[in-house]
Amino acid sequence: SKGAAMVTAVAQRLMSQRQEIDDTLALLRLEKAQLRQVRDRMRVELERGLKKDSHDTASVKMLPSFVYRTPDGSETGKYLALDLGGTNFRVLVVKIRTGMSQSVRMYNKIYAIPQEIMQGTGEELFDHIVQCISDFLDYMGMKNSRLPLGFTFSFPCRQTGIDKGTLVSWTKGFKATDCEGNDVVDMLREAIKRRNEFDLDIVAVVNDTVGTMMTCAYEDPKCEIGLIAGTGSNVCYMEEMKNIETVEGDEGQMCVNTEWGGFGENGCIEDIRTKYDREVDEGSLNYGKQRFEKMTSGMYLGEIVRQILTDLTNRGLLFRGRITEPLKTRGIFETKFLSQIESDRLALLQVRAILQQLGLDSTCDDSIIVKEVCGAVSRRAAQLCGAGMAAVVDKIRENRGLDHLEVTVGVDGTLYKLHPHFSRILKDTVKELAPKCDVEFVLSEDGSGKGAALITAVAKRFCAET
Ligand code: GLC
Repeated sequence: SKGAAMVTAVAQRLMSQRQEIDDTLALLRLEKAQLRQVRDRMRVELERGLKKDSHDTASVKMLPSFVYRTPDGSETGKYLALDLGGTNFRVLVVKIRTGMSQSVRMYNKIYAIPQEIMQGTGEELFDHIVQCISDFLDYMGMKNSRLPLGFTFSFPCRQTGIDKGTLVSWTKGFKATDCEGNDVVDMLREAIKRRNEFDLDIVAVVNDTVGTMMTCAYEDPKCEIGLIAGTGSNVCYMEEMKNIETVEGDEGQMCVNTEWGGFGENGCIEDIRTKYDREVDEGSLNYGKQRFEKMTSGMYLGEIVRQILTDLTNRGLLFRGRITEPLKTRGIFETKFLSQIESDRLALLQVRAILQQLGLDSTCDDSIIVKEVCGAVSRRAAQLCGAGMAAVVDKIRENRGLDHLEVTVGVDGTLYKLHPHFSRILKDTVKELAPKCDVEFVLSEDGSGKGAALITAVAKRFCAET
């Protein structure tokens, strides 16, 4: 009959729609073999970054940090710390006490950095920073104290000493002019001079991964790796000096900031990038750069989701085929929304409520699809981070000639902390891909503040000793 034929036609259409959605999600799925390949390629790039001949062209920059050792718990003193690298700028006073009640106390203030300043001129950016510092010192009544300062500057810096770092290139949401190729400590000192109001004793410039590792190492001597899974994605670890061909000396170890976010800039992961990743890249501030970061970090995951939802909508598979304003808005899916949408405790009705909040009208079917897309994107991100981490831990194990390595990773970042599944998938992947390593992940809160102070303390002491 005609009725039955219509029902069959509708059923067939629904089935083929589901097939199309499944095919799209499949683009984001990584097989075990592919993950092993990612691990092995990461390993190759880590080596290339360390070697003199290949360092200059390596996509994983392997930047020496001039941090030679982890803290031993005997550090003391009062320090100033600056934290630049996310959406906010923070100024902190950190007091480190030792003895029976080893403890760290902190006071901090958070300052917004408007987008015009992140993407304005370098002078404006550094003047703004110094103005925030001035406000903080007034607030604390410390204008004349001249405390030693650690500057957490979470961008790739080519360092030649603990207090010298040339910005290689901006990443994430920053693009201030006239900074790349300049020393960040010099730029800060000049801005302080321009203001001509107070002086600071800048002792160390620190990447957030290094601060995170140091903070964790303060309590756990097995911590030799720092991971940030937040707005950006990056790892540092303790490498043997003899393997770091870009620094003089063969004795002992030094912490290396891998800048693994740049992995793939030479085209070595094109086979796993999708058209959605390319679209995100094209819409970004740094086209062609930070390809791994763009698949793994909070600043971009929501954008990948948005590209996929837009595509599905254009193909009539979602939102009744209607592209609305919010769907066209860059940055609409922040990490916290992805985390909420993917939470297992959330009923679909609540997923719809969140989408509603973002201005997206969804049916029940839509909300299921959105949740699946978010899940596929964040799962891939966690697996890729896991594959990268497997390369790092296995390298450390081989460095030491061990059959088995026990190591701790200090971790920070909103994606790791807020997302309901990211950390579990990351850990499972490392276990699977680095079976000879026992890797423990420890949350290392506020490495950018505490860590910078610890590094400053170690650096001061190191100066005094030598
Ligand atoms: C970006 C920066 C890197 C930083 C990371 C996490 O990848 O280039 O230096 O560690 O974000 O904030």
